[in-house]
Amino acid sequence: MQQVNLGMIGGGTVGSGVFHAWEKNGGLMAARLGVQLVFRKIAVKSFDEPRPYPIARNLMTTDWQEVVNDPEIHIVIELVGGTGIAKTMVLAALAQGKTVVTANKALLSTHGPELFAAAAKSGANLYYEASVCGGIPIIKSLREGFVANQFPAIYGIVNGTCNYILSRMKAEGAEFADVLADAQKLGYAETPPDLDIDGYDAQHKIGILASLAHGFWADHHAIHTEGIREISKVDMQFAEKLGYTIKLLGIAKQISGKKPGVQVSVYPTLIPNAHVLASVNGVFNACFVRGDIVGDTLFYGRGAGKDATASAVLSDVADAALDLKNGGKVRVAPFVACVKGGRIAPMDEIVSRYYVRLCVLDKPGVIAKIAAIFASAKIGISSVFQPESQTGASVALILMIHDAPNAAMRKALAKIAKLPVVKNKPVMIRVENFE
Ligand code: HSE
Repeated sequence: MQQVNLGMIGGGTVGSGVFHAWEKNGGLMAARLGVQLVFRKIAVKSFDEPRPYPIARNLMTTDWQEVVNDPEIHIVIELVGGTGIAKTMVLAALAQGKTVVTANKALLSTHGPELFAAAAKSGANLYYEASVCGGIPIIKSLREGFVANQFPAIYGIVNGTCNYILSRMKAEGAEFADVLADAQKLGYAETPPDLDIDGYDAQHKIGILASLAHGFWADHHAIHTEGIREISKVDMQFAEKLGYTIKLLGIAKQISGKKPGVQVSVYPTLIPNAHVLASVNGVFNACFVRGDIVGDTLFYGRGAGKDATASAVLSDVADAALDLKNGGKVRVAPFVACVKGGRIAPMDEIVSRYYVRLCVLDKPGVIAKIAAIFASAKIGISSVFQPESQTGASVALILMIHDAPNAAMRKALAKIAKLPVVKNKPVMIRVENFE
């Protein structure tokens, strides 16, 4: 049987997970693939760093260049993370003609086109299944399973930390800051947790999915991104009363009309309780993919963690090994830029529905003043809700707003915020009905 040698850079949580999964099921993989996979070297920060599974000591080195420069190593697995040294490592391995498997969404999001160009130049491949939604095979599905489709819409719960926080806020009536503190204690959210809760991790992931789906690289600077810091317990509770759940959604949606483009965005969204994504709770991820041929499909699973991520990494290793078995020909290009002039539509152009919570003086004429501003902006109100039991001079007023462009909504809310009867900054959360 042909033997393919593996090198790995990164021997922490995910790296040791990959090694453990290979020890457990490497024989089965060999039988399935007709290729023997053998680890030759694993570069680690330190031999004795804490790791959930042991790594054979004789394989470890603290010098990553030993992995990249070993002529016997065919495939390099990069699990270092970040956009600094990881980029040097990936480019160095590709320059040696080695196929690279990475879980690094930040690196791809920031430098994708440069890395794919380097892979094409060297004739090697760059695989990245583990970069989006951990163990869910979403990259392979978009790239291969759905190759016959266009993608009118992809909606993803792609950040487990945010989903954990929002799920607990809803289930327990808890405030954001309290659940965040717990999430950090449990090791879900990083310290500082900004990359997760400010939406950037989700931005990287939806950008990668949008790029694959729409055939042009989605520049992360153009992805409208909002996190969940400003979601409060009261909004969660009002949303629930109205039949909705709040989720952080990555959205990649085709926009037709006079200015066609693709909406690529990340923001907290009210979604109907009856929609399947509303029941995705805790650290789980899910992707709802609408293909023009296949229709609606749903992917669900663990988006992070040593074992789920290892499963995705080893699926890439298997593909890379099959490339080598087939004479080193890249069978599936990592990313195909097949669309010229593709454009991410600016958020101002996007039409959405909205939930608005205002803190207003409880006196006659207040709703009329607010409604007049919406009317002059040609924005329709679909319902108004002011809970009866409130006491005090200021009360919460909830408005559900019909489809309106984000620019018009932004301007109308700025005017409303200036009304003397409106006491706090208006809260606006977009609503998605998946139509
Ligand atoms: N921190 C991410 C999450 C996992 O919470 O989903 C890695 O992308």
